[in-house]
Amino acid sequence: MSAHESPEIVLEMRDVHKAFGAKVVHRGVSFSLRKGEMLGLFGGSGTGKSVLIRSIIGLEQPDRGEVLFEGRNLLTLTERQLYKVRTKIGFVFQNGALFDSLTVEENLAYPLRAHTTLTDEEIQARIEKMLELIDMKGTNDLLPNELSGGMQKRAGMARATILEPSVILFDEPTAGLDPVNTRRLTGNITKLKDRGITGIFVTHDIPAAFEICDRVAILREGVIHVIDTVENIKRSKDPFVQSFVQGAYYT
Ligand SMILES: Nc1ncnc2c1ncn2[C@@H]1O[C@H](COP(=O)(O)OP(=O)(O)OP(=O)(O)O)[C@@H](O)[C@H]1O
Ligand SMILES: [Mg+2]
Repeated sequence: MSAHESPEIVLEMRDVHKAFGAKVVHRGVSFSLRKGEMLGLFGGSGTGKSVLIRSIIGLEQPDRGEVLFEGRNLLTLTERQLYKVRTKIGFVFQNGALFDSLTVEENLAYPLRAHTTLTDEEIQARIEKMLELIDMKGTNDLLPNELSGGMQKRAGMARATILEPSVILFDEPTAGLDPVNTRRLTGNITKLKDRGITGIFVTHDIPAAFEICDRVAILREGVIHVIDTVENIKRSKDPFVQSFVQGAYYT
């Protein structure tokens, strides 16, 4: 493939370093994400996966390095510019992110009211379409605590994507879900992917990642130990990668 045919890079980290006091989390993280690509991000607990994706939306400040979104270094943007960028990046938090006192419909309407000039009818139509996409038609008036864990996760994902961001970051969206709900959620993510969304999927659920992702990166000791296609990761002879793929590596 010649250079001009290579897919556009949407997101890139260059030599990112981050420490909390004496605790060094990232010691030179670099990778790039191409348009339409879903990147699985693996790593033991505490290796800095959440910190990494939080850095992409400015919830963490790297100590050094660059985080580029659509070619602009996010670390040099003003709060106002960053706010705008955040509307283009959906974030599905590790522990869901619905407002407890708002219904499903109100939760979904919230970003649309805050960030768009859509009319009430248009908002309603967008919500109905989204509820259908996540298999939650008719749940409009339910409160988060009236939903199952799986539904809460899917509603959280819907809220993160209702502004139709170009990039979505998932932090362990299938954690704590049973196999049926995991499949539903991964099915929903696949639908988003079919619409061309670009994303990072942080997970300990390796089979789910292999199903959804194009490439996989493994974070280890502060750096990206490996980043490659799912096929190559599965075939890797690297003992560390193998132990990960076989689910033998948990910490
Ligand atoms: N605000 C903070 N202050 C101090 N230390 C922090 C802070 N946030 C994260 N850390 C530390 O940074 C390291 C990486 O945390 P992070 O949450 O990114 O791990 P993770 O890879 O997402 O783990 P898990 O798989 O358990 O979610 C951990 O050692 C954590 O304790
Ligand atoms: Mg985490």
